[in-house]
Amino acid sequence: MTQYFIGIDVSTTASKALVIDAEGNIIATKSYPHALSTPQPLWSEQDPHEWWDATSHALRDVLEIVPADQIVAIGLTGQMHGLTALDAHGDILRPAILWNDQRSGAQCNAVTEKIGDKRLYQIVGTRMLPGFTGPKMRWVIENEPEVAQKISKVLLPKDYIRYRLSGAHVTDVADGSGYGLMDVGNRTWSQEVLAAFEIPASWMPDLCESSEICAYVNEVSAAATGLKVGTPIVGGAGDQPAGGIGSGIVAPGQVSLTIGTSGVAYALNNHYSPEPEGRLHTFCGPIPGTWFHMGVMLSAAGSFRWFKDEFASGMTYDQINAAVEKIKRGSEGLLFAPYLTGERNPHPDPYARGAFVGLTIRHTLPHLARAVMEGVAYGMRDNLELLRAQGIQPIDAVVSGGAINSSVWRQMITDIMQMPLYTVNTTEGAAFGAAVLSTVGSGVWSDVATACQAMVRKVDETRPNSDSLVDYDRFYKIFGDVYPSLQSISADLSFLE
Ligand code: XUL
Repeated sequence: MTQYFIGIDVSTTASKALVIDAEGNIIATKSYPHALSTPQPLWSEQDPHEWWDATSHALRDVLEIVPADQIVAIGLTGQMHGLTALDAHGDILRPAILWNDQRSGAQCNAVTEKIGDKRLYQIVGTRMLPGFTGPKMRWVIENEPEVAQKISKVLLPKDYIRYRLSGAHVTDVADGSGYGLMDVGNRTWSQEVLAAFEIPASWMPDLCESSEICAYVNEVSAAATGLKVGTPIVGGAGDQPAGGIGSGIVAPGQVSLTIGTSGVAYALNNHYSPEPEGRLHTFCGPIPGTWFHMGVMLSAAGSFRWFKDEFASGMTYDQINAAVEKIKRGSEGLLFAPYLTGERNPHPDPYARGAFVGLTIRHTLPHLARAVMEGVAYGMRDNLELLRAQGIQPIDAVVSGGAINSSVWRQMITDIMQMPLYTVNTTEGAAFGAAVLSTVGSGVWSDVATACQAMVRKVDETRPNSDSLVDYDRFYKIFGDVYPSLQSISADLSFLE
C-alpha cells in the first residue's frame, strides 16, 4: 500500500493541502483563499475561522483523491508571527493580528529598553520587531484588557489549525522563535523576556522540534475533514524554514535566496550565533541542533512590479528585459534604493524610503528599470554579506521567486552575488517542506537531509560572468552609503506626510 503525507500551508492569502508520496512526487494539491482586513492604518488582521474553513475544505478535496488510511502523517506550515488568541474553551477572542501588522512599535521599544538591546538580541536572536507575536500580545494587554483577561492561549496561525485538528496547544521551535519570546539558544521559552513583557507563561503553547510527532487527529476534526482518527501530526515550521527544507536547505552553509514580492536570504547554521546588532533573524532551525539565519527585504520583486505598473505599463516584460539588457552594468552611475515599504534587514527601519540616486539627463527609462533590478540585487547582497559575517560560506545558492523569470535579472543577481545560483525541481515550497518533515517524524526517512536527498534535485544553474565582479563591486560599495545618507531625510519626509 503506497504511503502518503500531507503538508498544510496556512499562508496570508490561502490555506493549502498538499499530498506527496515518500519519494516526493506531488499526488494532489488544493487551496482555498482567505480575506485580509486593515481596519486601521498599520493594522493587518484575518479571521482564523477562515483558515479552518479553507483548510478543512482543502483536506476534504484531497482526501477524495487519496484514501485517508494511506495518510501516514501530517506536517504544518504557514505565515509566521500571527497572534491567535483563544479563551479557555478554545474559542477565538479577536481577529488574528498578522506578521505584517505594525501597531506594536511602542511595546517593542519598551521591552528593548527594559532588557537592554544587546542582551535582548542575544536571547531572542533578533531585534524586537512589531511584526512579532510577543509585542502584539503586550499591545492586547495594554489596549484590550477585556480581551486579555479571557486569554487562555496564544497560538500561531498553523498551530491554530493543529489545535482544530487535535485539541493540542503546541508550536515547533522554528515557528515559536517568531514570537520573540524564546531563549533561542536553548530552544525554550525565555522567562526573562516573558517577565519583561509581563506576559503570563500559561499563555504559551508547548514546544517541540519540527519533525517530532506532537499531536494526533481527533474525532471531531476527522468528521470535519475526512482524515483518519489518530493520524500523527509533526511540529512543522514557519513558512520560511519549511520553504528552506522544500528547496533542500538541510546543512550548514547552504543558502537560499527567494526574490518574490519580498526578498529572503536564508541559511542554516549548526551553532547559535545571533548577529550582534540584531540585523538578521537567528531562530531555531527546523532540524534538531540547527539554527537558521534569515534576512528579509520588504520590497524585492515588489519594487520592480511598482516600477513597471507606474512607469512602463505599456511595455511587456520581454520588451523591458530587452531594453535593460542593452544598458551597461551599473546603469551608467544610477542607483536605486529599494526601500519602498520601509525595510527589515539589514536596515530595520519603517521610515526608510526608496530613491533613485545619481540621475543625469542621459538616463532613460531602461536605465531606471535596470537600476531597480540592480538595487534589489544589492539589497539581497547586503543580506548575503550578513550571513557571511555569521560564518556562512556558501559556494552557491538555490534561487526562487518571480525575479528569476527574467533571464536578464537572474544573470544580474548571479553577477552581483558572485556565485552560481541554481533552481530545484520542487516548486511547492513551504507545504512541500512541511510534508517532508512528516516523512521524517513518521520514521519513513531517518532524517531531513536524507529525505531531501531523495526528493530535491538541481534543475539548472547560472554562473557569474567573469568580468562582472570589478564592475559591480564599485557600484555595490557606493550602494552601501545610500541608506545611511538618506536615513534622516527619509524619516523627516515620513513625518511631514
Ligand atoms: C517571516 C515573515 C513572513 C511571514 C509571511 O519572518 O514575516 O515570511 O511568515 O509569509
